[in-house]
Amino acid sequence: MDDKKIIFSGVQPSGNLTLGNYLGAIKNWVKLQDEYNCIYAMMDMHTITVRQTPADIRRRTFEVLALYIACGIDPEKVTLFIQSHNPAHAELAWVLNCYTYMGELQRMTQFKDKSSRHAENINAGLFTYPVLMAADILLYQADFVPVGKDQMQHIEICRDIAERFNAIYGDVFKVPEGMLPKVGANIMSLQEPTKKMSKSDENPKAYISLMDDMNIIAKKIKSAVTDSEGVIEYREGDETKAGVNNLLSIMSAVTGREIDSIAAEYSGKGYGDFKGDVAEAVVECIRPIRQEYDRLISDKQYLLDICAKGAESAARISQRTIKKVYKKVGFVV
Ligand code: TRP
Repeated sequence: MDDKKIIFSGVQPSGNLTLGNYLGAIKNWVKLQDEYNCIYAMMDMHTITVRQTPADIRRRTFEVLALYIACGIDPEKVTLFIQSHNPAHAELAWVLNCYTYMGELQRMTQFKDKSSRHAENINAGLFTYPVLMAADILLYQADFVPVGKDQMQHIEICRDIAERFNAIYGDVFKVPEGMLPKVGANIMSLQEPTKKMSKSDENPKAYISLMDDMNIIAKKIKSAVTDSEGVIEYREGDETKAGVNNLLSIMSAVTGREIDSIAAEYSGKGYGDFKGDVAEAVVECIRPIRQEYDRLISDKQYLLDICAKGAESAARISQRTIKKVYKKVGFVV
């Protein structure tokens, strides 16, 4: 073992990955893979907390995996696996369930949110979702967990559970820290630019999927909501400028240029020209990813081999934690 710090993160294969996911998260993960021991998983077990079509989960699991690799996540450097392939997640989740209070789960924003959106199916898995997530992270003794802001509450409860367990049994778990993506990579909806770009938006014009055709991507950018002022300027916090701010952020993120220099280049120009150039820059960013993706997705065996290798190494690491936990709580090991 080397002395690199450990990063764990996961994604639910529940929808298309968006440009926002790529610029805000995945691109960042690619940078982390040399500096840290990274473990990334497709969270299929979390996915079934809301009703799904089974074939969709399976297909999307492969899609997400192929996309990650196409985006530059290197399976030689990173442990990539499917959550359900490592039974330790379910095992630790059960134990941690017994060290988590109903009251703290009831306060979770995501639970309140999802149970109001799926009132017909408020199942126990949805309620204990954060416990499974805590198990995901604690199994690997992760130091850092890159997540979006919306997941920070889950990191907090994970830390609380770890600290509670450690207080009873001694130092069993590393208490992890959330790692927010750098500001500036916050990509907003193209239709309601004060809202985050989301793959679950009911309006497909609001987000760019990495799976969209190149001409659709260009069209979506060109029909992005802006304002009637006609000035290309970045004004932080000014809601009327949210659309333009967003396009400038996107342009900056895909080209690596500073927002100020982009805004200066377009000063005095119209939104039409600007949008056309943003569209072209986004297409050029996504095109090579898509080409690599198309190659990978047609090679199921390669993807399966990667998952199998990843799951094996994930299981090996997590067994150490399971053994320790079982021993501490009094199971015969
Ligand atoms: N809850 C996360 C999301 O919806 C996915 C997730 C599950 C995750 N387990 C995790 C993220 C562990 C980081 C670490 O985005």
